[in-house]
Amino acid sequence: MPKEKFTVTAALPYANGPLHLGHVAGVYLPADIFVRFLRMNDHDVAFICGSDEHGAAITLRAKKEGISPQEIVDKYNSVIGKAFNDFNISFDIFHRTSAELHHETAKDFFKRLNNEGLFTKETSEQFYDEEFKQFLADRYIAGTCPNCKSENAYGDQCESCGTSLSPADLINPLSTLSGKKPILKETYHWYLPMQDHEGWLKDWIQKGELNGELQHDASKWRNQVIGQCMSWIDNGLRPRAMTRDLDWGVKVPVEGADGKVLYVWLDAPIGYISATKQWAQDNGKNWEDYWTRDRKLVHFIGKDNIVFHAIIFPILLKAHGGLILPENVPAYEFLNLEGGKFSTSRNWAVWLHEYIERYPNRIDELKYVLTSIAPETKDSEFTWKEFQTRINSELADILGNFVNRALVLTHKYYDGLVPQVNELNDEDKHVLEEMASIPRRIAKLTYQYKLREAQAEAMNLARLGNKYLADTEPWKLIKTDPERVKTIMNIALQITANLSIVLQPFLPNIASKLEAFLNISNNNWNNAGSNDLLNAGHRINKPEILFTKVDDELVEAEVKLLEEKAKENMKFEPQKEETSFDDFMKMDVRLGKILTAEKVEKADKLLKLTVDTGIDTRTIVSGIAQHYSTEEVIGKTVTVLLNLAPRKIRGIESQGMILMAENAEGELAFVSPEKEFEPGSGVR
Ligand code: MF3
Ligand code: ZN
Repeated sequence: MPKEKFTVTAALPYANGPLHLGHVAGVYLPADIFVRFLRMNDHDVAFICGSDEHGAAITLRAKKEGISPQEIVDKYNSVIGKAFNDFNISFDIFHRTSAELHHETAKDFFKRLNNEGLFTKETSEQFYDEEFKQFLADRYIAGTCPNCKSENAYGDQCESCGTSLSPADLINPLSTLSGKKPILKETYHWYLPMQDHEGWLKDWIQKGELNGELQHDASKWRNQVIGQCMSWIDNGLRPRAMTRDLDWGVKVPVEGADGKVLYVWLDAPIGYISATKQWAQDNGKNWEDYWTRDRKLVHFIGKDNIVFHAIIFPILLKAHGGLILPENVPAYEFLNLEGGKFSTSRNWAVWLHEYIERYPNRIDELKYVLTSIAPETKDSEFTWKEFQTRINSELADILGNFVNRALVLTHKYYDGLVPQVNELNDEDKHVLEEMASIPRRIAKLTYQYKLREAQAEAMNLARLGNKYLADTEPWKLIKTDPERVKTIMNIALQITANLSIVLQPFLPNIASKLEAFLNISNNNWNNAGSNDLLNAGHRINKPEILFTKVDDELVEAEVKLLEEKAKENMKFEPQKEETSFDDFMKMDVRLGKILTAEKVEKADKLLKLTVDTGIDTRTIVSGIAQHYSTEEVIGKTVTVLLNLAPRKIRGIESQGMILMAENAEGELAFVSPEKEFEPGSGVR
């Protein structure tokens, strides 16, 4: 492939929490593999990322933790940045959208589009929280999804079915700030009339055509990406507000727009450009070279980001003029975890920084597992059991075993010097041909963004080597045909050297170890496939064990830890075991009226009550004395379980039980009818 220029971006993570393995598998790791591969192929690449520090995701988190938005983004920008660094993700820059340079860049961008008349300014009535004196857009408002009827849909999107929404679509909308019903209040905003762009978007997305010219190869776009975009377009594009009434974000750079900021999905993708500017400044380069002309722009994202990267941002880039549009938008589906979805609120997650803390020596192993199961075309699942299997039976048994054999035998037979090749037989020739074809296949797959298969091909080279040694059995031949063994071991070592090249994009640390064992340094893909990477007589180093196996205890402990953390996080007990209707109907629950109440002597928790049950008056002892005084309870109509077997409590026979609600803080409340109802009324 001729040398080309790429600007590769990875979705800017919100600085509102740490990264979990789902983020890694479905954005950052594939982007990193792709970039490492491009660099090895001498393409000119800029790899851009940073944190997304505006929007309701941030301000709501700040409110929850009781600190300022700035403190939130500072905290998570550093947690995330460190995790990327420790995980060896090779960004050229990890910037942030709270940076001055970003604010300036985003403002200039907006001004330019506004001057060109891209936006329309419109007044409308929007939801407003009277208590918090704030307009409610995006995540500030929640309600029932009109599409799937889930009750936790936000004003911008339903997280259950993925439908994109606007606040007015929600059924029964409530403010997420006060929990109250909002009022409607007039305000004005700048809108992007997306419907005006339908025509060119269709051709560009489906055929890769722009202004009648072929701009990219649409056949390389993933089906889901084209499908999601076309379904958006076919459902009718509408004007979308590009500003918000908020105080956290990039100020709208127009006279008289006080209290308004840019919509986070307008400012965040511009973050790719401002990050490039910062990097260019720091490295004596010109940022425009990375956003204009013959450069290929590739956005790695998760599937929930598709419309923003494949529709909205391209509209803005095109309107701006002079800038390139994405060549491809490889979007990933979601990764699940041990049978459930990754969820911050349920604390069902493996956090990257915690993994690194627990297993600092298993970085590449996690990369290998995550790439093996990457959700490229459909959702996939991470389990600790599979983590174990992939490491033990693939990395350790195949790759580790082969490398170890090749190197140990070389030390044993030749004192660590690469032996010379003698005559090649058919088996050798076949193996060398295979070895030469693997890098070509990996390259082809990688350019098609099929990294899962690409990594499997790289592993096939280790399989090939393993099988070659098993078939030729040099450890037996050494006694009868030592000349033949020299050839076999030379080939085994050439395979090992090739592994140190083809594994580099996927397992950079392991590849470096292989280089150190072989005493070579080779980071050019063009050399891959060669049977001449090691000269006869070259001295290699002593190997170490590459992979230690993962035992069952680790798997059990990790699964247990997950479950415990999720439980700790749960405010209320999980649902009890299923019960039958008949069993439920055996319980006689009715309303009763408390007639008298007195404290039980020497028992600070107990009240002795007499209750009118509609069929009799009876005595019930109840453990509510620390929550209610006798005066408070007399005259109340409450819910009573009548047919509970009588029990003696402190010498008093209690003939039933008062049912109480208990919240997470342990406070108690009576369960009383919502209107006046007679004692004796049944409760079912
Ligand atoms: N912060 C967004 C998310 O995590 C991604 C933003 S990508 C950007 O879903 F391009 F807009 F920055
Ligand atoms: Zn929904």
